[in-house]
Amino acid sequence: MDAQRWKILNPKGSRRVVVTKELPGTRWIDILVAADCRIEICSSAEILAPAEIRAAIGDRCDGCIGQLTERWGEELFSALKAAGGKAYSNYAVGYDNVDLASATRHGIAVGNTPGVLTETTAEMAVALTFAAARRIPEADRFMRQGRYRGWLPTLLLGQKLQGLTLGIVGAGRIGSSYARMMVEGHKMHLLYFDLSPNPGLEEFMEAYGRFLSARGEKPVTCRRAANLEELLSLSDVVSLHTVLDSSTRHMIDGRRLALMKENAILVNTSRGPLIDEQALVEHCRRNPSFRAALDVYEEEPEMKPGLAELDNVVLAPHLGSASTWTREAMGVLAAANVAGVLEGYPLWPGGDYERFLDPEPPRAVPSIVNARELGLLLPPPEPCP
Ligand code: DGY
Repeated sequence: MDAQRWKILNPKGSRRVVVTKELPGTRWIDILVAADCRIEICSSAEILAPAEIRAAIGDRCDGCIGQLTERWGEELFSALKAAGGKAYSNYAVGYDNVDLASATRHGIAVGNTPGVLTETTAEMAVALTFAAARRIPEADRFMRQGRYRGWLPTLLLGQKLQGLTLGIVGAGRIGSSYARMMVEGHKMHLLYFDLSPNPGLEEFMEAYGRFLSARGEKPVTCRRAANLEELLSLSDVVSLHTVLDSSTRHMIDGRRLALMKENAILVNTSRGPLIDEQALVEHCRRNPSFRAALDVYEEEPEMKPGLAELDNVVLAPHLGSASTWTREAMGVLAAANVAGVLEGYPLWPGGDYERFLDPEPPRAVPSIVNARELGLLLPPPEPCP
């Protein structure tokens, strides 16, 4: 292990936890120190190869906090198990970089960080939507290049979104939050595609529609699309909020892009491989009034050839959860996952994850995605008064 790249905190801790990147804030450190952990943190911004993480795990390691940029599979979970480890937490809500079956086989609990990045990621999707609709990056480049010669009626015309149709693919926490921001702010009609209906979202849409009608305004509407094709062909804006797995990889391919409106906007803050990126490059090249706004890429950090040259594509480097509050809160949940498993705390029943940011957080493990497979139990229900 390269001592220059690894920093040690609380060296006398009786447990050893490896953290593969520096995390913002200090509360996550306090949680691990309170659980008597010596913390070894990699201070390099480079993505670590599995061999380097394995070397850091060494022959004694109780738990790890890792990143979505790392492949946590058999090589690392067998090393962690052999080193006496019990817990791994992804510093992310998504965990498509983790081989859950392998972790489970080795008895390693896998944590993630739900709940604290919902609004931050939804806000990023909103920002990207408007950046694409109103051509903000193009306008910014235009100014910096000294090309502004005075106001013109035809300069950089974009799209007004109010009253148009918004399609969301995946109506979970982040998708619903984004939908509400777009609908409340911009009175868009909503179509959603999800395997199960979302009664909470539908109720909200209905109540908001009634509120608008009572004020003499046109009500918004909401419908669960029969299939993805229907959503794609009817929506003016399509935003992806679904998980990545073998059933969703390349769900947006050349054939489905061709179903979309010529001037539609496609937003992706979820995972890059949901879109066939090469097909998207070709589609955007052939259709200059189509717009894409991407925060994630098929093979991060690379982009498919041609993507960066397209003016009708807005690009961001996977910043969905990048607000200071959220990134600190993710650190708290990741640390609480690892510390909680090591301390033998019960599982948190889910929801209200912000409780872990309280000065007196619950003595529980926030979120273990293979809890059922490992037979970890929820706490007994509170006795009735
Ligand atoms: C996640 O948590 O899954 C995000 O992609 C990282 O912010």
